[in-house]
Amino acid sequence: METVLSGIRPTGNLHIGNYFGALKNFVKMQENNNCFFFIADWHSLTTHPTPENLHNNVKQVLAEYLACGLDPEKSTIYIQSDVPEIPEMYLLMNMNAYIGELERTTTFKEKVRKHPDNVNAGLLTYPVLMACDILIHRAQKVPVGKDQEQNLEMARKFAKRFNHMYNTELFPEPTAYNFGENLVKIPGLDGSGKMGKSEGNALYLIDESKVIEKKVKRAVTDSGPTKMNQEKPEAIQNLFDIMKVVSTQDTYDFFNDKYNNCAIRYGDMKKQLAEDIIAFTTPFRERINDTVKNTEYLHKVVTQGAEKARESASKTLNEMRQVIGFRKF
Ligand code: TRP
Repeated sequence: METVLSGIRPTGNLHIGNYFGALKNFVKMQENNNCFFFIADWHSLTTHPTPENLHNNVKQVLAEYLACGLDPEKSTIYIQSDVPEIPEMYLLMNMNAYIGELERTTTFKEKVRKHPDNVNAGLLTYPVLMACDILIHRAQKVPVGKDQEQNLEMARKFAKRFNHMYNTELFPEPTAYNFGENLVKIPGLDGSGKMGKSEGNALYLIDESKVIEKKVKRAVTDSGPTKMNQEKPEAIQNLFDIMKVVSTQDTYDFFNDKYNNCAIRYGDMKKQLAEDIIAFTTPFRERINDTVKNTEYLHKVVTQGAEKARESASKTLNEMRQVIGFRKF
């Protein structure tokens, strides 16, 4: 069985783009892989959240992932800060990470450009901590988005460098895993691009029906097709793409035919689309809201997760200590 690992930053709520683009595949991967999913709360400290926000965000994200089908009986689900083996490994790994290569990473340069007043050392060594998250369980597959590819490349570099330096094969080289054919990109409602938290175009799993209706009503359209079977402009294609994942094939075909015959009424399509999104998200919203309130269950999940994660992490860390030369007297 292969070891799969992914970290989730505790920022914001899950939207349907996250669900179809990542989570749905995480849920599937649990069946035939040794999966680790964790909440990267140490990573979130780079932006200095308040104690209340830190705690509530971790709790919300945890509840949302569980409500979507991450299963603590199948996967190891834990909170990063419950595993003290990670920071020890981070200390060790930092000795083999060079300032120059860290300064050259795109994400670091971006952060410096955007927030010149908060260029902290944690930001610089973010890729080292992320590499340790992965290497501590000797994970082979890391399902992450395109934006994380450079961080993953750094993880491979640190793994290789350590192996080479100590003439060992302790760490496998982790690779990005993008789901191949199963990768679904959900567009936003604002006419162009994909759905995202920062784009302000997202439909969240916890959105109330009224909110969804309003968002869909405001979605960008045009004055309608003028030629039979004409190609759809991006904004319209986007509505169809969302319909494809939440509606039945019949509904999709119905509106697609209307479009091709120049008989479409966007108002009708939006009404149907909103209805189908609501039907899709409502069970998620209800489960999320129940899970957030179930402190006992959350406690059980993270306690059991920490135990399993620490067992795996301490095995790797002990070997690493030995290899480096920390030995018992
Ligand atoms: N950096 C990732 C992000 O911003 C989160 C993350 C932290 C992560 N550690 C990880 C992802 C390890 C995959 C593996 O989304």
